[in-house]
Amino acid sequence: MIWKGFASDNYAGVHPDILKAINDANKGHSKAYGGDSYTQEAIALFKKHFGSDVDVYFVCNGTAANVLGLSTLIQPYQGVICAESAHINADECGAPEKYIGCKLQTVPTKDGKLTIENIQAFLMLRGDQHKVQPKMISIAQSTELATVYTPEEIKKITDFAHAHDLLVHMDGSRLSNAAARLNANLAALTKDVGIDVLSFGGTKDGMMLGDAVIFFNKELSKDFQYIRKQSMQLVSKMRFISAQFIALLTDNLWLKNAKHANAMAQLLAAEIQKIPQIKISKEVQSNAVFAYIDPKLIPILQEKYYFYVWDEATSEVRWMTSWDTTQEDIQDFVAFIKQTLKLESTPK
Ligand SMILES: Cc1ncc(COP(=O)(O)O)c(C=O)c1O
Repeated sequence: MIWKGFASDNYAGVHPDILKAINDANKGHSKAYGGDSYTQEAIALFKKHFGSDVDVYFVCNGTAANVLGLSTLIQPYQGVICAESAHINADECGAPEKYIGCKLQTVPTKDGKLTIENIQAFLMLRGDQHKVQPKMISIAQSTELATVYTPEEIKKITDFAHAHDLLVHMDGSRLSNAAARLNANLAALTKDVGIDVLSFGGTKDGMMLGDAVIFFNKELSKDFQYIRKQSMQLVSKMRFISAQFIALLTDNLWLKNAKHANAMAQLLAAEIQKIPQIKISKEVQSNAVFAYIDPKLIPILQEKYYFYVWDEATSEVRWMTSWDTTQEDIQDFVAFIKQTLKLESTPK
């Protein structure tokens, strides 16, 4: 039996076009460590989106993209301002603290989004030799709470940052989902609005593995190739990551996958809204639905469909959709919820 659930887009398999690209690249020998033609082609495709003056590097996963992108630009006595819910703070097992060796300066937020007001408070610490000196801001697009920054909101943050000698990193693990939501191109949400360094996610959008670190100012990336190697993220058979990116960036597969995942979240939300016992807790802006449900329901549903409890205290759960979620998956899940709630008679 094929098992599917709503735990994460990381639980989904590999898109067939991507798997085919890996297989097609599996011919003969290629130069290792990125000296191959696939890597050159993938970088050229990224440059079509972001312009020829960007620097693009591939790594294995999102955590590495975040940690290495940040570590290039910061000293141990400096700090990264981020939302408390940011993946770098909540879900990277202290990798930023260990490998960047600096403090994360966190802000509690309702919706996972930073504002200038949040950032301003940290600038009071500037110049005090006893205090960590804020240097970077890290925002996620879309956020861990599946909310999305508008380009104007990002620009406000980057303008403020640059006026105050701060740099801005974007965790774009799900940038494709945000672009799909906003009907915007990738540059409009990053380079054009002043982002300095981007972690661009491939894994969550249909790839087997692979993320990119993209610098929008080459001055900032001059040491990155050494940092990546020393941090064990220079992949020898890089052609197999690059071939995946070629497939993802060809014929807008990145956008099709993200649009589909978002549409499935909207469908799930529309169906859940019809169930009075469940309350959607956050506006659905990308590919996840958050909801409060009866805690007794959780283990019963999880027997059949795995998903995460986001907040035990409030019994808030997260249902995430992905490129391979189907309408039938949603209908079956919703029917199972209704059946469990005894809203419908058990099918004979
Ligand atoms: C917002 C966000 N950033 C980064 C990551 C890290 O990705 P990985 O698990 O590939 O290291 C994740 C993973 O779920 C994520 O949700």
